Amino acid sequence: MSKKILVSGVKPTGRPHIGNYFGAIKQFVDLQDKYDSRIFVANLHALTTVQDKKELEDNSWDVVLDYLGAGIDPTKTTLYLQSDVPHVAELSWIFGCLVTMPYLMRAHAFKDAEARSKDINVGVFNYPLLMAADILVHDADVVPVGKDQKQHVEITRDVAGKFNNAYGETFKSPKDVILESVMTVPGTDGQKMSKSYNNVIPLFATDEEIEKAVMSIVTDSESGVPTNVYAIHALIKDKESLDALYEEKKGKYKDLKEELVKDLKAFIGPMREKRKYWEDRPDEVEKIIREGGEKMRKVVHEKMVEVRNKIGLIHHE
Ligand code: TRP
Repeated sequence: MSKKILVSGVKPTGRPHIGNYFGAIKQFVDLQDKYDSRIFVANLHALTTVQDKKELEDNSWDVVLDYLGAGIDPTKTTLYLQSDVPHVAELSWIFGCLVTMPYLMRAHAFKDAEARSKDINVGVFNYPLLMAADILVHDADVVPVGKDQKQHVEITRDVAGKFNNAYGETFKSPKDVILESVMTVPGTDGQKMSKSYNNVIPLFATDEEIEKAVMSIVTDSESGVPTNVYAIHALIKDKESLDALYEEKKGKYKDLKEELVKDLKAFIGPMREKRKYWEDRPDEVEKIIREGGEKMRKVVHEKMVEVRNKIGLIHHE
């Protein structure tokens, strides 16, 4: 039996931190053996907010390097750029002719954007339809997303239903896999790790950055166990050795932080080196995404021929 299809898009959000890793990236790595995984850089979606050529190019490239560095294996996962599969833009237009404006106006992301400014570009409004196209064109079985994207997957299911009702069974309704709820990673101040709280440990941190971040962890002074140090440590050390260590060094916060530094270096170091490996081989990375795009264009072409034929767009090869 062929493997189930996993699809997910990644919008560049700057330098990833270990919260992003444990919240999302790691699952892509873990799932890549089990699924036919297709992960793309959502550069068309990024256009809704980035209107600078160099910034978009650099960000896109960084996402690819981050994922390769974090352990995405290009022989197992198809990594590609969304813009290399332009069929999704065509499909989102088709969906836009089936879905009503009042329906899309109920989307959280649109409502949030509208609350901030009325000058919203049409791309922001259509965002969920492009995402529906990304997913449905693959006949995806699972779409691992964070909590903030759950509604987009629901919209995707509605869109599939609308199309199927109008033109007959064509698209498969995807299941979502919500990752963020599974794992909320605490930052150096004990709040959720987030760039906006300034409490992150970068995923590809240098040794100095690791030391600095760990030393800045806010420790409580009452119990013998520094809760915030423990919580981060628990991400990378098994519970048994962790508890033994914190028992042995009860109250010795500095020692415990040094242990965390040591373990973080052992965890981050190899990923940082792997990222560097790919960074030093831009031609190979270029080949990976070029071939990924070629492969995906072939796969989705067939689906688009089916769609065109079903809706009355006379198809020519
Ligand atoms: N909207 C997603 C985000 O902001 C990115 C994305 C685009 C995506 N297309 C997708 C995710 C398709 C999953 C499937 O994170």
